[in-house]
Formats: sequence, structure tokens, C-alpha cells
Amino acid sequence: MTDTVVRFGVVGAGSVSVRGLLPHLSQPDLHDRLRLVAVCDPAPGRAEAAAAKFGCQYAFTDYSDMLAAGVVDAITIATPIGLHYEQGKMALDAGVHIHFNKTMTTTAAEATDLIERAATRGLKMVASPGEMLRPHNQRVKELIAAGAIGTLCWAACGAAFGRYHEEERVRGGADPLSNIDPTWYYRKPGGGPLYDMTVYSLHALTGILGPAKRVTAMSGVRLREREFAGKMHPVDADDNTLILIDFGDNLFALAYGTPAGRLTEGFAGSYFGTAGSIVGRKLNGEPFDYPGRDEAATHSQGDQILLPHVVGVHRDIEEQHVWEDIMQLVDWIRDDTPTIVTAEHARHVIEIIEAAYRAADTGQVQELATTF
Ligand SMILES: NC(=O)c1ccc[n+]([C@@H]2O[C@H](COP(=O)([O-])OP(=O)(O)OC[C@H]3O[C@@H](n4cnc5c(N)ncnc54)[C@H](O)[C@@H]3O)[C@@H](O)[C@H]2O)c1
Repeated sequence: MTDTVVRFGVVGAGSVSVRGLLPHLSQPDLHDRLRLVAVCDPAPGRAEAAAAKFGCQYAFTDYSDMLAAGVVDAITIATPIGLHYEQGKMALDAGVHIHFNKTMTTTAAEATDLIERAATRGLKMVASPGEMLRPHNQRVKELIAAGAIGTLCWAACGAAFGRYHEEERVRGGADPLSNIDPTWYYRKPGGGPLYDMTVYSLHALTGILGPAKRVTAMSGVRLREREFAGKMHPVDADDNTLILIDFGDNLFALAYGTPAGRLTEGFAGSYFGTAGSIVGRKLNGEPFDYPGRDEAATHSQGDQILLPHVVGVHRDIEEQHVWEDIMQLVDWIRDDTPTIVTAEHARHVIEIIEAAYRAADTGQVQELATTF
């Protein structure tokens, strides 16, 4: 354990930051480990308003200025996904450690470039979502490995966009911290439900089954316009994608990212074997046990409180899982404690998404090259 206090910056003072990351990072219980020193956002008045609200010394409207000022050791990148790669590169070039909100990048090649740059510079990167930190996902992995559902034959996972982002409570207001525009979620690069939501279930699926080998898919834009704040906005990022994933030895999975409708429960997958099934948190229809399950059942935030850093006041602040991933980075910087929330795992999931889009465009099955 070192006595290093990590000087932390938040890049993008949008929904996830205002509702979750800034409230977590500004709590006094962290002062022995980190200080929230800077926030950066180009939207008029947003960085200043966030800095004032969350007690942050520096507010920047320009990201380059923040890096050049040399006031942060580590950042969380909480901007639209299409900006993550360039912002990640700039941070590494400035010698800054990074937590990436999902997804780290939109292509595997970009992820590889960041991984190599970080290694060359001796910097650390943690890429959300750390789904395998969740005890129930570890338990599903153990159950399948122990043969609890016989020979595993296939799995399913995925998510639907719905109107989640339009309806977040920081979207419809009149001040800089509550008038945050979500329409980048409709546009390339980085928009659509795969990078935004299916990414959680793909992290769990691959965390449980291991790296995949091949992908094919059908994909397109089903809803050509979406309504936000009384106006219609064009959609050009695919919003309706069905993916088939080959894990080798004829073990297959279906993954989906759609405008509406779900086959599976939450972001948890369904696993079907010769001796039964695991669907969400049930084994053959009965809830299975995992560490902390009964305590979580009594808490309003449920399983979120089972993540290792979600203690005390952090239990009741939103976006606990993102906060957890940030603390995985902070521990890694301070104590050299390695994390399972790796950039390599994120890259493999990004490759699955990218390969699905390419398969849909070309009609050709795509071989995957990355592993973790
Ligand atoms: N909204 C959620 O529920 C949620 C939850 C978990 C993770 N995330 C992830 O967090 C990230 C941000 O999502 P969000 O929903 O908060 O987006 P958002 O649109 O609400 O906020 C993005 C912010 O980034 C700012 N920004 C744009 N360009 C910038 C730049 N060059 N430098 C600095 N800031 C810039 C925008 O002004 C905006 O304030 C994404 O990676 C997303 O996948 C979102």
C-alpha cells in the first residue's frame, strides 16, 4: 500500500458523470486515495457548473488544455464513444492513466494501438464494463464449469435501447448540468445499442465462456428517426442487430442489440445445456446462490452493493459499477494491484461488435483475431 493520492480528472460532464462519477469521486472518504481535481467539457457553462457543484479545483473547456496543465495523474473518459480513441491517445501521450467508459474504442485496431501505447509508456488502462467483478457472473462460470447444466450447447444475451437515454433525468432541463443532449447515441461512430448496452452482456458472455472464434450477423437501422425534446432526429447508427457467435467445438451464442424487446433477463445471459439451464440468476428455475446474494436482496441497489469498492456512502450513489471500475484503476496505480477489468477483454468484445457489423455488410462470416 502506497500513500500516493491520485489526482483525478473527469473528461465529459454529461449524464454518467453528473449522476454518478462526480458524486462518487467528490466523497471525502476517498481523500487518502484520490482527489477530484479537474473536470473538462466544451458545452457552454457545463465544466464550470460541474466544478462548482462537486468542489473541483479546475474546469476546462478544452481537453488539450487540461492535459497540458499537468494537473491530473489519471482520468475517466466519459464522452461520446466515438471520441474515446483520440482522447485516449492524447492522454497516454501526456503520461496520464485512463479509465474508459464503455466502450473503450469502436474498433479492435484502435484498442490495440492504445494497449501498445500504454505498454510502451508504462501507463495503466481499465476499460469498463467490469462485469466479471460481479459475484453472480463468477458463479455462472463456476456452475457451467462444474457441469451443473450438463454439456453446454448454446447461450443468448443482449439488450434493447428502449428510450433509456432520452429519459435520463439530466436530459430535459434548462441548465448546463441538466440539458445534456443524448442524440450522439443515434449516430456513427459509436452510437447504437451494441456499443452502449449489448456490450455489458458480451463482457459477461465472454467472461463466462472465454474468447470467441467467429461471428456472423444481420444488422441495420430499423427506426430511421428518434424523438428527443420534441424534435425528430435522424438515426444512422444501426439499431437492430442479431449476431451469431461461434465459441469453437460447435458451441454457439446469439447476441442482440435492438430498438425494443428482450429475450434475456437484464444484462445476464441464458445458458442451455443437456442437463438444464441458467437463465438470469436462476438454475433450472430456482435462484442459485452466490456470495452476498441475501444481503443484496435487502438493499435498494441490489447486486450493485456486492462490488468490492461499493461501500458506505457509495452504495447509494448511482452508477456504482462504473465507480467500481474507476477504483480498480486507482488501486492498480497506487498498489500495483492487477485488475480483471482489462483493456484486452474490452478489445475482444469490441472486435465481436465490429465483426458483426462487417459480417452484416459483407454477408461473410468473420474470424476473430483477438483474445484476452
Ligand atoms: N448514460 C449512461 O447511463 C451511461 C452509463 C454508463 C456508462 N456510460 C458511458 O459514459 C460515456 C458518456 O455517456 P453519457 O451518457 O454520460 O453521455 P452524455 O452525452 O450525457 O455526455 C457526454 C458529455 O461529453 C461532453 N463532450 C463532448 N465532446 C467533448 C470533448 N471533446 N471533451 C470533453 N467532453 C466532451 C458533452 O458535452 C457531454 O457533456 C459513454 O462512453 C457511455 O457509454 C453512460
